[in-house]
Order: sequence, then C-alpha cells, then structure tokens
Amino acid sequence: MSAVLRLLCAATLIGSIANAGAAMAEEPTAIEARVESLLGQMTLEEKIGQLTQLSNVGDTTGPLPDDETRRRNMELVKAGTIGSMLNVVGVEEVRIVQDYAVNNSRLGIPLIFGFDVVHGHKTSFPIPLGEAASWDLELIEESARIAATEAAAQGLNWTFAPMADISRDPRWGRVMEGAGEDPYLGAEIAVARVRGFQGNDLSRPDTIAATVKHFAGYGFSESGRDYNTVDFSSTTLFNVVLPPFRAAVKRANARTVMNAFNIVNGIPATGNTFLQREILKGEWGFDGFVVSDWASGLEMINHGFAADEREAARLAIQAGSDMDMESFIYPDHLQDLVESGEVPPALIDDAVRRILRVKYELGLFDDPYRYLDESRETAVLLSPENLATARKIAERSIVLLKNDDHLLPLKNGEKVALIGALAADKDSPIGNWRAMSESDSAVSVVDAFEAADINFTYAEGAVLEIGNAGFPDPVVVNTEDRSGFSEAVAAARGADKVVIVLGEDARQSGEGRSRTRLGFPGVQQELLEAVTQANPNTILVVMSGRPLVLSWADENVASIVQAWHLGSESGHALTNVLTGKYNPSGKLPMSFPRSVGQVPVYYNHFNTGRPDEIPDVFWSHFTDEKNTPLYPFGHGLSYTSFAYSDLAAVSEGDTCSVEVTVANTGKVAGEEVVQLYIRDRAASVVRPVRELKGFRKILLQPGERKALRFRLGPDELGFYNGDGEFLVESGMFDVFVGGVSTAELSTPFSYEPR
Ligand code: BGC
Repeated sequence: MSAVLRLLCAATLIGSIANAGAAMAEEPTAIEARVESLLGQMTLEEKIGQLTQLSNVGDTTGPLPDDETRRRNMELVKAGTIGSMLNVVGVEEVRIVQDYAVNNSRLGIPLIFGFDVVHGHKTSFPIPLGEAASWDLELIEESARIAATEAAAQGLNWTFAPMADISRDPRWGRVMEGAGEDPYLGAEIAVARVRGFQGNDLSRPDTIAATVKHFAGYGFSESGRDYNTVDFSSTTLFNVVLPPFRAAVKRANARTVMNAFNIVNGIPATGNTFLQREILKGEWGFDGFVVSDWASGLEMINHGFAADEREAARLAIQAGSDMDMESFIYPDHLQDLVESGEVPPALIDDAVRRILRVKYELGLFDDPYRYLDESRETAVLLSPENLATARKIAERSIVLLKNDDHLLPLKNGEKVALIGALAADKDSPIGNWRAMSESDSAVSVVDAFEAADINFTYAEGAVLEIGNAGFPDPVVVNTEDRSGFSEAVAAARGADKVVIVLGEDARQSGEGRSRTRLGFPGVQQELLEAVTQANPNTILVVMSGRPLVLSWADENVASIVQAWHLGSESGHALTNVLTGKYNPSGKLPMSFPRSVGQVPVYYNHFNTGRPDEIPDVFWSHFTDEKNTPLYPFGHGLSYTSFAYSDLAAVSEGDTCSVEVTVANTGKVAGEEVVQLYIRDRAASVVRPVRELKGFRKILLQPGERKALRFRLGPDELGFYNGDGEFLVESGMFDVFVGGVSTAELSTPFSYEPR
C-alpha cells in the first residue's frame, strides 16, 4: 500500500469513528454510558485483551485439556487480557472459564463465547444450501432460532453464522454453508437467519449474537479452490457480493461481521479499509464489531501485504478488524504500536467500545452466567419439538429434479430395492459443520424405510468412504472395491422399483473440500449404471453438499431427487417425500452444471454482445456443450402441477405492481415457490438477463387458484454502478413469473422513477 493511500485510509477511518461517536451522542443509551465508564477504567493492555480471541484446544466436548497452551490461555483469561474464547462449549466448561475471567481479572469483564453453529447445534438441520432450497424464510428463521436456543443452553453467546457468501462455483466446498448463487435470495435468507439467532432481544438467555461472514467475496475464490485469489469487478462487488451483508447488517442488525481470508482488489479483506471502514462501519453505520477469520491477520504476510507480524497487526486494526481470532498479533504488537505513535489510541478504543457494546447487549455484564443452566441444557437439546422442526424443514429442502412417468411417489406394497452406502449412513446427513451434533446420529434411509414399513431389501452396492475422516482429515474414497455390485444388481432385478442413494460423504464438502470433478466419487457412477440397467424403474437420490454433475443420470434415470445433507431427521424426511406423504416443494438455490467446464454457470448472467445462436461459430457458446445448466436456478418439481396466468404489470408512481394467478392443476395439494424475475432492457451499466426480485411460497389444494400481487419499487428496480452509487433509471423492463428462473410467462412495463 502506498504512503499516500495509507494516509487517505487513516483519514477515512478517523472520520468513521467520529461519525459513530456523533450518532451515539445524539442517542445516549444506558449501554453506551456503561461502555464509556468501563472504557475509562481500562489499561491499554486490558483494552488489547478485549480484541483478542483464542480457541480452546483438544476435544471440546470432553474435559478441559491440561496442556501448555491451555494453561497459557487460562493465565491470560485470569489477567483480563483475553476478550473471547471459541470452541469452549457446555455449561460446565463455560462456567469454569467464565469464572476465571470474572473472578480473577482486575475488572471482571466477562468473556464472550463463540462457536460455529452453522446448521443446528445438537439437533442437526439441513446444510444451509439445502435449507435455502426450501425458500421458506419462516422455517429458516425457526431453524436458526432453535440452533440458538440449543447453543445458548450450552453456554454459548455467539455463533459464526450465517455465511452470506454468494457463490457461483460448485467446485468450492463451502457452497454448502451458503444460500447459493443469488444475491436477492441470499439477502432474504441472511436476514432470516440473523433474526433467528438473535431474536428480538439479545439479552434473553436463549438468543445469541450472529456473525455475517465472510466479508467479503470469499465465495468467488478462483476455480473454486478454497482460500484462493479473488478477483471481480466493482459492479459485481456492489450488486452481487455485498447485498446479503448489507441486508443482514441494516435490516436484521447483525451484531458481528467476520472478515475473510481472501483479497479484494488486491487487498486482503482483513486489512481492507475500504470494505470495513468505508462501507461497513461508514456507509452502513454498523456499530457491532468485526472479528477476523481464523488467523487471517497473520495470513496477510503470506499474501504479501504485510512485511511481518507487527505490520499485520497495524494494518488489521487500522482497517477495522476489531477482534483477532487466534493469530495473537494484537497482544504481541498493539501495545508497542500505540506507544510508538503508529496506531492512534482512538482506534483501540473504537474497537473495544464495539466489543463491550455487544457484551452489554447480550446481558453478560448483568449476569455473566446467564447462559449457564444445567437444567435448560438437559431440557432443550434434541427435544422432540426441535427434531419435529428439523424434519419439517428437511422435507421442504428436498428438490425433485426429474420424475418421468410419475415413477414417484412410491406406492403402497411395491417391492423396493434400496441401494447405496449413503442409504444406511447415519453420519453423512449430519453434514460437515456439525457443531455439537453427534456423529452417526441421523436417521438413515434404511432406518426410516423400516419405521415406515416399506417392503424393501437393502444392498450396499459399494463402500463410499474408506475409514472415517474427521473435520480436518482428507477423505479416502473407495475406487476399487466393486464386490457388492452383484448383490445390488440382483436386488434391483427382483424389485418393482429401485431407490439408489449416491453422492458425497459429509466430509467431502465444506471448508478445504474443493473438487475439480463433480461426478459421483469412487465407483458410484458404475454402480448407478449397473443398477439402472438391471431395473429401469430407478429413482436416484443424491446426497451432496453442492450441485453435482448429473448429466448421465438425467439422460438415463427416470427420477432424481436432490437430498443434500439433511440433518438429524434425514431418513424420515426423505421417506415422506418418496412416499408422497410430503409433496416436494424445494427449488434449487444454485444452478446444476451439465459439465465442470461450464462453471461458473448461473442464471443471472449478462447477455454478451453475441448471445444468439447462428450457423457459424462466432457467437458466445461452447463447441462441445450447451450454454444452459442441466437444472436451472429455481427448478424443482412437485407431484402436482401448477399453471400461471393473467400476468399484468402496472406502473404507478415509482412503483410497479405485478399481478399473477397461480392454479394447482393436478390431483394433490402442493406448495409452489412463485418466483418473480425482472430484466432491465437497457441501462447505464448492463444488467443481467434475469434477476430475482420477489418470491412467495404458497400452498394450493387441487383445483385451487390464487391471485398474487408483487410490488417493485426503486429498491428492486435500481442497481449499483462501479462506484457504488445506487441508480434508479427509467426505461423498459420485462417481468417474468413462474416456478423456475427460465419461466416463460412475461410482460413488459415501462418505469419512470420520480
Ligand atoms: C472459517 C470460519 C470459522 C472459523 C472458526 C475458519 O477457518 O473460515 O468460517 O468461523 O474458522 O471456526
């Protein structure tokens, strides 16, 4: 960074601190007064302590590990020079550590305990990408609410979720943690999740602070390789990457934001003043705190941005990274940096103020033990009500991709061959970010078929994973053993229908789990081909943490069901969908490619200058693959059918009102996700061919019709230019409404903003 730019950044950040102060002075609250009074009593060392977060080591579910690191950490807690711990979980354990902080340190400032509660805590919910497929904001909020209740019952105050990273790249293993490729859906879901975690009142003992992460752009890692370089245009930053964060901060008041491992415009997110000071804390007025990603401050040295740890500490604090997770650069260097005059004390105060504010809001100063109650811990975790909701949302997360000749639902008495290692797997459905959910605790499809009294025989066909990889371990896949094929083929031959469950082990998606091939790992594809040949009435159930390439299956298998990793109640939810007890309603939150070479393939792309097919080769296309995805964003079938009609768009003032009628034209009741897309035909910055701008999930009985109205205003019809200015321009638009992003029903309207 040049000296001039650094000066500019310093000027901006002092400006944003001053603004925050002004806003506070206008509205002095009890909390602000308490924060200021405490701040006034703190030494510089104690202040820096608040900016430091350390992780517990070893098995966090077992007894506290008695090793050197832990001893050091506890000494720091007692000295009041640690502000937060992560991975300390459970009433007993949290109480011990909180005691050290409250009863031994000079000022007795309570710690805030953070943990990755990503898709459930003890009760496991579908992975976030799966939940996103439900498009059911109420249920998504409820799932986060339950996760918060369980996490709080185990002494936690803070989750590192939701991940609001938009991603168009299924090679990136962390797509499982997000809401997919669309900024509008992503924003709605981020808001729902933050509201679920934080509830209406953060000081209640069953609410926890949320973290929107990873700020920003982490979902755009080049080639989907985790932690890789990120390089996108500023229009992509403002229109695609930032909207979910903005919504989570401005609409849902997310109390913390986590920065990211990646660079944005050549500057690591952790040291990025533009993102953290100008946009987040400046423009959006965020008054919570920013936590770094795990040692991301230190990683600025590897990026080639900071020369050494001391410089990394300076750059991170200057840029607005308030709390440092695990790299220890703040306690090692900030004191010296302040004393030498390189870091203004006001910067430290600003960061401490933000952290103390959130601790006060959580009620930790009133009762540092308020989250600690053994009886609540026992009553809340894995309660029947929590499991019932987990089942409900798992059902709604399942997407019926294909269903030729109504092969599904299964009919009473039909003889079924159930095939595949994942059908009996009680662990993979728990997913990768499993928090405190027990291994092997999900209801498998085999368990659920038994419970539902289905007439079936089970054959594994082939082992998927050799061994049992944990969170940090590479997964070893079976690529040789086909000894179970013959039993599976025989079972398929002897059955009316086959249900074959294939896909990824839980540990094959998630952090550090990038893949270049998106077919079925190991020998599963061969098994699928053998089984399909033996019985054409084959239903493929895909368990995966990301979109896989299903092109062969699409051509050769009659029915395909996308089942993600669905959580504790996985098997029951799937059985309810396969038998028609629940009529599937999920819609894809991410496009499914035909082949890896198409990636990134996403619905809201630009038109290009040469979009139209012509006989010669000089149009925008591949010579060996279609442009379109195999299954587009928003796709998902039902056991009934829906018809859309009477689409009308009327502009009044700066609003356009859109009406449409949806009818259930089939024989069973069903839920439909009615999706509204717009296209801005010509603008000062080119706009995508379609953009989601509204959706509604409705239940229709057979024969029932419903008229729906959507409102499009400046927020929906405007866009950001490359300077981050929001523009609302007049002109012609098209609106499309239907059950998929390729919906054909459309009408034009002209729009004239006031
Ligand atoms: C991840 C974060 C996570 C943190 C703490 C990091 O490796 O990128 O998303 O919250 O670890 O577990």
